[in-house]
Amino acid sequence: MLLARGLCVLTIALVVLCDEGPALNYSYYAKTCPRAESIVSSSIRTFLRRDRSEVAGLLRIFFHDCFVQGCDASVLLMGLNGKESEQQAVPNLTLRPKSLQAITDIKARLEKACPGTVSCADIIALATRDAVNEAGGPWFPLPTGRKDSKSFASVQETLNNLPPPSFNASELLESFQSKGLNATDLVALSGAHTVGKAHCPTFSGRLRPSLDPDLDINFAQKLAATCREGDDDFATSNSTDLDSSTPNRFDNAYYRNLLGKKGLLTSDQQLFVDNRTSSLVEAFARSQRSFFSQFAASFVKLSKIQVLTGSEGEVRINCSVANPSRMLYDA
Ligand code: HEM
Repeated sequence: MLLARGLCVLTIALVVLCDEGPALNYSYYAKTCPRAESIVSSSIRTFLRRDRSEVAGLLRIFFHDCFVQGCDASVLLMGLNGKESEQQAVPNLTLRPKSLQAITDIKARLEKACPGTVSCADIIALATRDAVNEAGGPWFPLPTGRKDSKSFASVQETLNNLPPPSFNASELLESFQSKGLNATDLVALSGAHTVGKAHCPTFSGRLRPSLDPDLDINFAQKLAATCREGDDDFATSNSTDLDSSTPNRFDNAYYRNLLGKKGLLTSDQQLFVDNRTSSLVEAFARSQRSFFSQFAASFVKLSKIQVLTGSEGEVRINCSVANPSRMLYDA
């Protein structure tokens, strides 16, 4: 009897301690905007039919949103009055304008259908999920209910949170661990590099002054022909496919490239060099099915990083600026 009462008190205490506020869920817009997900998916289908390569633009926006201050659409905010926003940080200068515009267009459709209801953070996550599927990857349910931030991170904070392409396996593992993601998540999510491009300055350090021994020699020669010496300005530099075999298809060819020393970035090839991650690379290279199921699980984990829910944050009306405050309206 005493033991039972003790357990009960403990359970109540744990429930109180574990209550983190309203969580994301799978039917968040069921009553308030039942067409939300179908509006996003039909928009993405039309968008990618015009240019399938834009799947890469959405994936990168999603990653850069979630790793800086959480999945709160802070990456979409413009700095006003000369203030620099996350968009001015060097890695964000090459986010694709067409993909950013696609999010704006989807938001406009959703504002018409259900004003002030669907957050920009949820739009980024859902649009990316649907784009992956449209490009040949898996489809999977995604919980919603993320709120948008009212402010963005500084340029320095943005740089501190986004792993650079020069990172080795230990640095990558540490960066992902700081976001609650493990080695399996790191390897699965890096598989997003099965689509899209990288500019010369992000990998030319592997070619000159000396050749990276973890780079296939024939592949290196091709890269050296694409990237001339001194080609280190992002605005003018050439770019090349992250997955040289099937660049616009979401498949597991990325991992097979790593087995053949044809990973484009140091951070890609390191996943096969290091014995904490190499067996996962081999497993995903062998089985597209296991890559897809792990990618889906890790994507959902990524989409939950530091989310704002309930009364935290807001649903922005315009994804690129925070809503005007009441005080301003009242004045
Ligand atoms: C593991 C650490 C990662 C590093 C160091 C990294 C770094 C980079 C770099 C340097 C580029 C080339 C940018 C350019 O030159 O324009 C790039 C492109 C890209 N990244 Fe990552 N990335 C990482 C993880 C991820 C993750 C987790 C995702 C998504 C889930 C992702 C999605 C992409 C995509 C799709 C592109 C191609 C973008 C385009 O073509 O516009 N990356 N990444």
